[in-house]
Amino acid sequence: MGHKGFASLSPVFLLVCIFLMLHLVHGDLSYSIPEETKRGYVIGNIAKDLGIDLKTLSSRQARVDFGGSRKRYGNMNVNTGDLITSERIDRENLCGKKPSCVLKADLVLENPLELHRVSLHVQDVNDNGPQFNDDLIEMEISESADKGNRFSIEEAHDADIGQNAVQSYNLQNNDNFILSVDSHKVELVLENTLDREKQKEMNLLLTALDGGSPQRSGTVVIHVTVLDANDNAPVFSQTVYKASLPENSPPDTVVINISATDADEGVNGDVTYQFGHVSDNDINVFSIDSKTGVITLTGQVDFEEISSFEMRVKAKDGLGLTSYAKVLIDVHDINDNAPVIYLKSLTNPVPENVSPGTEVGIVNVQDEDSNINQNVHCSIQQNVPFKLVPSIKNYYSIVTTGQLDRELVSEYNITISATDEGSPPLSSSKTVQLSVADINDNPPVFEEQSYSAYVTENNKPGSTLCSVTARDPDWRQNGTVIYSLLPGEVNGAPVSSYVSVNGDTGVIHAVRSFDYEQLRNFKVQVMARDNGSPPLSSNVTVSVFISDVNDNSPQILYPALEANSFMTELVPKAAHGGSLVSKVIAVDADSGQNAWLSYHIVTSTEPGLFTIGVHSGEIRTQRDISESDSMKQNLIVAVKDNGQPSLSATCSMYLIISDNLAEVTELKDISSDENNSKMTSYLIIALVSVSTFFLTFIIIIMGVRFCRRRKPRLLFDGAVAIPSAYLPPNYADVDGTGTLRSTYNYDAYLTTGSRTSDFKFVTSYNDNTLPADQTLRKSPSDFVDPFEEFETSEVGA
Ligand SMILES: *[C@@H]1O[C@H](CO)[C@@H](O)[C@H](O)[C@H]1NC(C)=O
Ligand SMILES: *[C@@H]1O[C@H](CO)[C@@H](O)[C@H](O)[C@H]1NC(C)=O
Ligand SMILES: *[C@@H]1O[C@H](CO)[C@@H](O)[C@H](O)[C@H]1NC(C)=O
Ligand SMILES: *[C@@H]1O[C@H](CO)[C@@H](O)[C@H](O)[C@H]1NC(C)=O
Repeated sequence: MGHKGFASLSPVFLLVCIFLMLHLVHGDLSYSIPEETKRGYVIGNIAKDLGIDLKTLSSRQARVDFGGSRKRYGNMNVNTGDLITSERIDRENLCGKKPSCVLKADLVLENPLELHRVSLHVQDVNDNGPQFNDDLIEMEISESADKGNRFSIEEAHDADIGQNAVQSYNLQNNDNFILSVDSHKVELVLENTLDREKQKEMNLLLTALDGGSPQRSGTVVIHVTVLDANDNAPVFSQTVYKASLPENSPPDTVVINISATDADEGVNGDVTYQFGHVSDNDINVFSIDSKTGVITLTGQVDFEEISSFEMRVKAKDGLGLTSYAKVLIDVHDINDNAPVIYLKSLTNPVPENVSPGTEVGIVNVQDEDSNINQNVHCSIQQNVPFKLVPSIKNYYSIVTTGQLDRELVSEYNITISATDEGSPPLSSSKTVQLSVADINDNPPVFEEQSYSAYVTENNKPGSTLCSVTARDPDWRQNGTVIYSLLPGEVNGAPVSSYVSVNGDTGVIHAVRSFDYEQLRNFKVQVMARDNGSPPLSSNVTVSVFISDVNDNSPQILYPALEANSFMTELVPKAAHGGSLVSKVIAVDADSGQNAWLSYHIVTSTEPGLFTIGVHSGEIRTQRDISESDSMKQNLIVAVKDNGQPSLSATCSMYLIISDNLAEVTELKDISSDENNSKMTSYLIIALVSVSTFFLTFIIIIMGVRFCRRRKPRLLFDGAVAIPSAYLPPNYADVDGTGTLRSTYNYDAYLTTGSRTSDFKFVTSYNDNTLPADQTLRKSPSDFVDPFEEFETSEVGA
């Protein structure tokens, strides 16, 4: 896949292709070989004659193919390049009397496919001598026969051809006869008349000689009986009879009528017919009616086996006088052989990335019929990306017409059909199975674009986070997917110290226990790689989200929890019900519900005097302070988060109801519970003086601005200002993706005790979550000016 289309190939490349095609037809070989050689006879060295490197012969699977269903006459020795005979070749058997006998073979080489025609001309060897049909020829000749009368003698036959066939005859010397030989007959010519009284009978030796070397000969004895009467021999109407016969004709078909006439009367004029010499093969094919001379078919005639017959017929009269004639029967071809398709070569399997136009195989079509009956048209069915390209006669290349893709079609059944031009035409087909071999052309593809894994913190190391899956449609190792982590860093540590991936299954495990408070999410890259060479891969991002568990108790920032620290709040005696006196500030490192804090007073010195805002932690007086209230008030406040189960922390809050700093000395009594160290005293003094200073400052400001007030209110907001450095670092919203909740946390402790926190609470939270007793102030005018707000709040109170 991914290869250039054929169209984009350069013209130069196409030219090269054409030359390669031509390669198929060039270099035909022709050898002459005598018949009847021993097996293993070296016909010639094909490698040398074609200039093919010996070493490539076996790698290119060189072979010699004698086509069709015929025998293998020769073989190629791939080590030497020699073409050798592998069985006896009898020319007479192969070609009969044909003047030339050629065996055709193909030399096939693969990679690239290459084809050479090899013609073996089988040369006749004089392995047959002339032969007469009988050992003895009986002849009866009247003594009244005139000088110059001719008497036919059956020719000798010789299976060999050309010079090796009968060339001459030799008649033994005698007083009466000489020999006359022409192309069709051998005759005795009477030179000196016979005299029965002198010689009643005679034997003449006739010798037939061929032209071979060494010369062979055959003889026959002609026994001549000299007759008294005035007799005539039968005379054929033609010296040569010619007939033609369609092959596969039914038995009893009349082939030809022959006739001879005899001038004699009575019994002497009755002519009978019979065959002269007939070869063993043909003996049962025809019969001759001895009376009528009608030659009929009795056997099978197959044009593909024998296309013509040559027979001698003999006419004999009642006295035994004979004459001879020749019958030539031509057999017509009938379209009785369907074409046969031979797969000469096939590249199987063929890699899926071969470019269109690649040759994958060679087929050869043969039709044993002749002429138009053996003209064959070949084609491939339409729905496969292959076509047939004709090369040399009756050879076709199977060529790809498009891009193959094993992942779509891994196997083709290519049906090749061949039809001849006969009438009616015959056809046949052959199915070639071709597999497509895999190329690593598909990278693994993840089933998802990206993966997310959710895990709650404090997980066990080794727990499964999620699993990724990638698919690769390639074959075997080209489609085997291996997963791995791509190197990367999470919080400065290698990603492999956080997660691991199972290379075979794609299951991702946690390597360590995660802490939500340290790390809320991170991303890792997982690579899926196949096992091909070169391998292909794809990457995917896995986002791991850690969810919170309520594993952190609320942490109280104010009042400080240290055992020996001692903090106290000053509450003016004149404080009205609802005045803010202090605020418990707590944070929770968890998030969401797990960090949603609520405040409760657990125990107090004077139950009902102080309340605490469930969510604000603001401590307010619930009623006006009365004289009977104890000056020292002690509250134990519990802070709980909303986790499941919830975690809590408690703190003590010391309050002194006093307007007078002088009374502070009595603080010692309160602090006597504590470690009465000097340090504590200093702290108290420092705190009280800061508070007092701040109070004074507020009073002055309020006095200036709100002098109409009869009773200035004392506020303690400033007293609980907390330096930002005091905050735990992880409270800053690190990645900017903090939730609404964490924003609230942040606000809650920065807006210490101010009433604006009420408003922020409202804006940050869903109203539904507010306790019913919480005062809602939603009007924008309420917070235009903090001091304006004091006014309204007073009205409200
Ligand atoms: C041959 O002789 C037979 C019978 O004598 C006759 O029926 C037939 O027509 C003849 N055929 C030819 C070709 O002369
Ligand atoms: C091809 O032919 C074989 C044998 O007939 C058969 O088993 C196979 O399913 C065929 N394949 C295709 C792709 O048609
Ligand atoms: C995998 O692909 C390569 C080429 O990318 C090929 O050579 C090899 O034969 C293929 N393997 C299999 C098992 O098909
Ligand atoms: C996957 O990531 C690795 C490392 O960054 C890189 O070499 C490779 O090319 C990436 N593969 C793909 C398909 O993007």
